[in-house]
Amino acid sequence: MSNNVRKAVIPAAGLGTRFLPVTKSMPKEMLPIIDKPVIHYVVEEAADSGIDDILLITGRGKRAIEDYFDDAPELRMHLERHGKSRELDALNEISRFSGIHFVRQREPKGLGDAVLYAEKHCEGEPFAVLLGDDIMKDHIPCTKQLIDVFNKTGSSVIAIQEVPTEQLNRYGIVSGKECGKNLLLLDDIVEKPRPNDAPSNFSSIGRYIFTPAIFSCLKRTTKGAGGEVQLTDAIRLLIKKEDVYAYVYQGKRFDTGDKLGYIETIIEYALDDEAMKAPLQAFLKRA
Ligand code: UTP
Repeated sequence: MSNNVRKAVIPAAGLGTRFLPVTKSMPKEMLPIIDKPVIHYVVEEAADSGIDDILLITGRGKRAIEDYFDDAPELRMHLERHGKSRELDALNEISRFSGIHFVRQREPKGLGDAVLYAEKHCEGEPFAVLLGDDIMKDHIPCTKQLIDVFNKTGSSVIAIQEVPTEQLNRYGIVSGKECGKNLLLLDDIVEKPRPNDAPSNFSSIGRYIFTPAIFSCLKRTTKGAGGEVQLTDAIRLLIKKEDVYAYVYQGKRFDTGDKLGYIETIIEYALDDEAMKAPLQAFLKRA
């Protein structure tokens, strides 16, 4: 057994109802941010954080995710034969992600239920969780920032950011005591509170490191907000059992599962592209 964070779990089995009808036949995690799907950025973050054992939780209708990370020898041969080296480089960007495994959530019963499917794979080790529809943009990958906290504390830690009051009812909201720079020791977390009941303006943002104790908490968690098994409710139980920290993430977070968040993500990445930047800025000015 290792005390290092060597494994990551990426839940991507949700129904994506906010993006219907496109998500009827296409996983929201495969929606393109220009030329790469959302899930590419999430897997890349795990890899760039030093993790080479990644478990993707998928489900019915999510086969496109498995195909994306699979090798494509006939496509590779075609590109080689036609001397398309730039396109081959794009393919190689995917094949550098080794050690990807898949397990299917039988029914989308909620994020907490999805994470429980990782218990066997994690073999009693601490592990990272990265939500498959949140993209983080930063110099030090968000998951790496959390691993650095875990290496100091040996305790579970979740990434948080301040959100506007009108958005508090969308997320898991934390309360805790400051115990270092950008660090809180948690005493509670509540899923989707009414703004008046929210214990703070700090929201959980889809990146976590857990000790294996989270699994027994998940098993004791019953359906909560929205009739789903909520990861937040299991974290609440974990807080009662052992120390859980929250780290104020330094970087930008994009919720691509939300329509506006998705458009913002595309614009952000397009503005990073030298060829697109000026014409896009001109277009946005005219719009
Ligand atoms: P969301 O709540 O954003 O996903 O879950 P959703 O339920 O697909 O979205 P909407 O509200 O219907 O549009 C956050 C992450 O947890 C995964 C999702 O795929 C997403 O990456 N998830 C959610 C699961 O893996 N299983 C579930 O049962 C629910």
